[in-house]
Amino acid sequence: MMAQTVLTCTTKLTVPNFGEFYKQQYNLIVMSWKNFEKDNLPSSIELFPVIFDYLEKHHKILDIGCGFGKTCLNLYKKGYKNICGIDINKKGILYARKMMPNGNFKAADASNIPFDDSEFDFLITQAFWTTVVESKRKKIMKEISRVIKKGGFLYTAQFGQTWEDPLYKKRYEEGLEKGYDKGTFESTVNGEIRYTAHHYTKEEIEKLLEEADLKKIYYSKEIFTTQSGNKVNGYVIIAKK
Ligand SMILES: C[S@@+](CC[C@H](N)C(=O)[O-])C[C@H]1O[C@@H](n2cnc3c(N)ncnc32)[C@H](O)[C@@H]1O
Repeated sequence: MMAQTVLTCTTKLTVPNFGEFYKQQYNLIVMSWKNFEKDNLPSSIELFPVIFDYLEKHHKILDIGCGFGKTCLNLYKKGYKNICGIDINKKGILYARKMMPNGNFKAADASNIPFDDSEFDFLITQAFWTTVVESKRKKIMKEISRVIKKGGFLYTAQFGQTWEDPLYKKRYEEGLEKGYDKGTFESTVNGEIRYTAHHYTKEEIEKLLEEADLKKIYYSKEIFTTQSGNKVNGYVIIAKK
C-alpha cells in the first residue's frame, strides 16, 4: 500500500455566513478528493450480496464515486459487461481505465452527471455519500435519479451515525462545534484535514430518496469496518425509480 497523501489545506474554516461556509466546505472537499492518489483512495466496503437479487447481467450500470474502479472491476469479473463509473478524482479514473479498458470511466462531479436522462438500469453509490457536503446532497440525489430509467434501481451502502462509540461521539461533537451539520466531522492526519466525512441517519437518507422520487424497497442495518479498522453503523438500501 502506498503511503497516505496528507493534504495541506489552505481553506480556513471560519464561518462568516452560511452561504460562504458551505462554499468553503465544498471547495475543501472537492480539493481533497481530487488530490488523493489513484489506488490510495479510501475504499473499505465490499458489495453486500443482496445487490445480486436485483442486478441483472444485461443491466447498464453506473458507479458514482467509483474511485479507482474496485467495485466496477469486481462486477466485471462476475460477468457484468456494461459498466460505467464517474469520480471527481482524475487519477482514480485513469487508474480505473487501465485496470478495466472495457469500462466507460469519466472524471466528473456527481452534481452534473455526464450521461443522458434514463440511461441506466442500475446505479451504485458505495461509501460515496459520506463525502458529500450538506448543500450538495439533494442536487446529487436528483441527478442520480435523472439518469435512472423508470423501473431501474439505486443500490447504496452508507456510513451511519454511531453515537454509541465514544470516538465518533467526540468527532461529531467537535464537528458541531466547528459549525458542521450533525454527523459531519473532519478526518485528519497529523493535524491536517484529509477530508470531511458525514455519517447519516436512516431518516436523512430516506428523505433524500423521497425528494428524488426513489422508493426504498430494501433496507438493512449493518456494521461496517473502516480502513482504520473502526466499527461504524452502516445502511444498505436499494431504491427503485
Ligand atoms: C470513500 S471513497 C469510495 C470509493 C468507492 N466507491 C469504493 O467504495 O471503493 C469516495 C469516492 O467519492 C469520490 N467523490 C467525492 N465527491 C465526489 C463528487 N462530487 N463527484 C464524484 N465523485 C466524488 C471520491 O473521489 C472518492 O473516490
